[in-house]
Amino acid sequence: MNLDVFTLFPQWFEWFRTQRHVANALELGHTVDCIDPRESTPLKWGQVDDTPFGGGAGMVLRVDVMEAALRARYGVDPESLPAQRRVIALTPGGRLLDDALAGELAAEPDVTLLCGRYEGFDERILEHFVTDQVSIGRYVLAGGELAAMVVSDAVLRKLPGVLGKDESAVEESFSVALEGAPEYPHYTRPADWRGWAVPDVLLSGHHERIREWRHEQSRRRSLP
Ligand code: 6GU
Repeated sequence: MNLDVFTLFPQWFEWFRTQRHVANALELGHTVDCIDPRESTPLKWGQVDDTPFGGGAGMVLRVDVMEAALRARYGVDPESLPAQRRVIALTPGGRLLDDALAGELAAEPDVTLLCGRYEGFDERILEHFVTDQVSIGRYVLAGGELAAMVVSDAVLRKLPGVLGKDESAVEESFSVALEGAPEYPHYTRPADWRGWAVPDVLLSGHHERIREWRHEQSRRRSLP
């Protein structure tokens, strides 16, 4: 997967790229590239945003600036991009990220994430250059960068071979394998701590009974 992140703060992602799962994905040949619209802005002094027509607080990311950045990256009129790849704007009111959306994006060969800042995007960016708007929750962050990292983390860890051999994204919370339910509880050594004992079944060595117990626990946790 080639993941492009358009952000005014590309240096934030340097840390993100050192996360083990992300580094694994890069080693496997996937890419996570950051593009700074300030580098290609047609305006003077690196300007990328402007005050909203009609007045109001904050600044709005300009459509001409985003067009120039997308055009410089992809070499086409960005109006034609939505037919070619998923272009996702991170917006607080967008489609809520969940396991299903992460899986959907993990199946895409090319994904573009657009991070807004300040009051967000000029509406024409969303109308003409974007396929989806995605949110990570109903609260407002100062910018889309942290949301883009959350989306990227959830997507990249689903790519085959990205998790270590002792981990798996198949049977985990909210997955299809667990019928969308939260995950079952986990325990490790010591088997008894201050009288807090690990359930006997997990120490029994009966794999079938352990499987049944875990699914039962998972189902129970999903009850209202
Ligand atoms: Cl995607 N962006 C911003 N700015 N705030 C958010 C968000 C996104 N998702 C939740 N809050």
